[in-house]
Amino acid sequence: MITSETRVGELLQNPIARDVLAQLVQYAGVNERIIQNPIVKGLKLSAIPKFAGKAIRNADQIIDTMIELFNQEDGTASPGPSSERYWWKEAVIYQIYPRSFKDGNDDGIGDLRGIIEKLDYLHTFGVTALWLSPIYDSPNDDNGYDVRDYRAIMTEFGTMADAEELIEQLHKRNMRIILDLVVNHTSDEHEWFIDSVKNPQGPHGDYYVWRRGKGVLPPNNWLSFFSGPAWEKVDDRDEYYLHLFSKKQPDLNWENPAVRDDVCGIIDFWRGKGVDGFRLDAINYISKTSLADGNETIGGLLGFTGIEHYFYGNRLHEYLRELRSRAFGDSFTVGETPGTGPEMNKLLTADSRRELNTVFSFDHLENLGKSRFDDYRYNLNHLKKCFNRIEGPYADVAWPSIFVENHDNPRMVSKIDPREEYRDLVAKLLAVVLLTARGTVFLYQGQELGAVNVEFSDISEMRDIESLNRYRDLTESGVSPETAWKTVLCGSRDHARTPMQWTNEAYAGFSVREPWIRVGDKDVCNAADEMRDETSVWSAYQTLIALRKEHPALVYGRFEPYAAAKDDVFCYFREDGGERFYVEVNLTARSIRQPRTKGAMELLYSNYMAQGDGLQPYEANIYRVGAPQADLSEE
Ligand code: GLC
Repeated sequence: MITSETRVGELLQNPIARDVLAQLVQYAGVNERIIQNPIVKGLKLSAIPKFAGKAIRNADQIIDTMIELFNQEDGTASPGPSSERYWWKEAVIYQIYPRSFKDGNDDGIGDLRGIIEKLDYLHTFGVTALWLSPIYDSPNDDNGYDVRDYRAIMTEFGTMADAEELIEQLHKRNMRIILDLVVNHTSDEHEWFIDSVKNPQGPHGDYYVWRRGKGVLPPNNWLSFFSGPAWEKVDDRDEYYLHLFSKKQPDLNWENPAVRDDVCGIIDFWRGKGVDGFRLDAINYISKTSLADGNETIGGLLGFTGIEHYFYGNRLHEYLRELRSRAFGDSFTVGETPGTGPEMNKLLTADSRRELNTVFSFDHLENLGKSRFDDYRYNLNHLKKCFNRIEGPYADVAWPSIFVENHDNPRMVSKIDPREEYRDLVAKLLAVVLLTARGTVFLYQGQELGAVNVEFSDISEMRDIESLNRYRDLTESGVSPETAWKTVLCGSRDHARTPMQWTNEAYAGFSVREPWIRVGDKDVCNAADEMRDETSVWSAYQTLIALRKEHPALVYGRFEPYAAAKDDVFCYFREDGGERFYVEVNLTARSIRQPRTKGAMELLYSNYMAQGDGLQPYEANIYRVGAPQADLSEE
């Protein structure tokens, strides 16, 4: 049991404390070894507020909150490694944002018929499974992440018969399908919520998180991810309901067993239709440890007041185990878990604990101290650091999800280097790193074409609720429209949500009608042209996926970082079953010296046509190492 008398050194036995300390050290920008310093190790927790002095407000409250969090896992044994081989470890999963993939019925909105039309495209390019962002009936406040009926298809996307055909057609091609399961919240138009408002004593009265306000104020000071307070008052009940996302996305009350029964029912329904797996939206938020006020300092640091009470709630593991044993069975599960650290992820995904198969960690998406809404050039050394941390022994316990793009982030190529002359090189560099990494690979639509951010001209072109709310809040708080626009443009999720660029025709061959959101640079980047061009980003992806499929060492093989201490290069070996590969990547836009290795190497892939003396800007190469036993020690 951890108390205020526990010393920092003893804390390192605790998995959650290890994550939190590592995060703090990173945020503070100090050397990680500070935690090993005898003076620091000897500090009692109760002494920290004195040291922190005025630098950290409410330090004693922060310590109390942390102690509560750490004690959730006090005495938990570290899970052991597993070398089991599963289809989902080998999968290359392609995420589709159905609204923007392909319009099959000429209404300007993507749909299931459109996806069916493009299955051969996906198959040719080599992906083995699809993850579809939500396809259920929804009023679209958050483009389907607000579900009105989990057992019906969104009218704009088609019918249940289309969904069944899609599943069948995928299975015919030996491909799998993963649905997005959004069960932290529903839409406020879901029948449960409508009934919950009307009949507080009825069967759904307790399906959501309802509380009385504090006088004229909401029940606590938590903030919503989509701006403003996380509570909304309903006069009919004279109570507030909790919504971590938009007002139209009320949080379900997972403490109510009937809610969990219903979620199991939804999973059974879709498994019955042949679905192979689920991506679990914001799943780490389902358990709220308490509804006490959030600590303002922690809130300020993490961006959202209240988050310490639910990002790793006290019943999270219990709920996940229940879902696995009652409903998921052997379906694949990947959890979206913003904010959890590596030790928490081990506890969430270790094979022996039977909770999730893998989780998305977001640490690598932004440089330290930066957020999605900051205008900065991403330094790839950070990506290297994050990958080095998760690809070695860590992956024996917690199989990683490997990705750099999804529907919630601007395009990675633009973040790294927006200059047109480097676009293809950077896109191919990312392809090399992703497809030689140890973990399940997730690609996002358009990434295979080297898609970049879109030059939206003003706020009237944006569609995402997060961008619109943020712009409104910024301007209302006195920020000039120009600055507010710049901020929103930097981080908007809409960059990744514009129509897939199939051709250079009108509307990029996505639709014959004007799409629901504007089109990007279809003339320089489209699938039809890239498929004909052997040097395109598309062709690079096709080659690299084939290489990964051919060589299990690239999936399961041991990961050995090489020359790890040298900045600006990312080098590693992968080895398994007598096969050994070497990957070397220049992380900068400069030519740099190449770390030397000994032994015979055969170049299998390069994003350059010809090799030079050193590594050219953003050069990324994959070699087969001829003699597995050769001496490859660093020079
Ligand atoms: C997840 C989704 C995001 C959505 C949110 C609320 O973070 O990826 O798109 O807005 O959950 O469901």
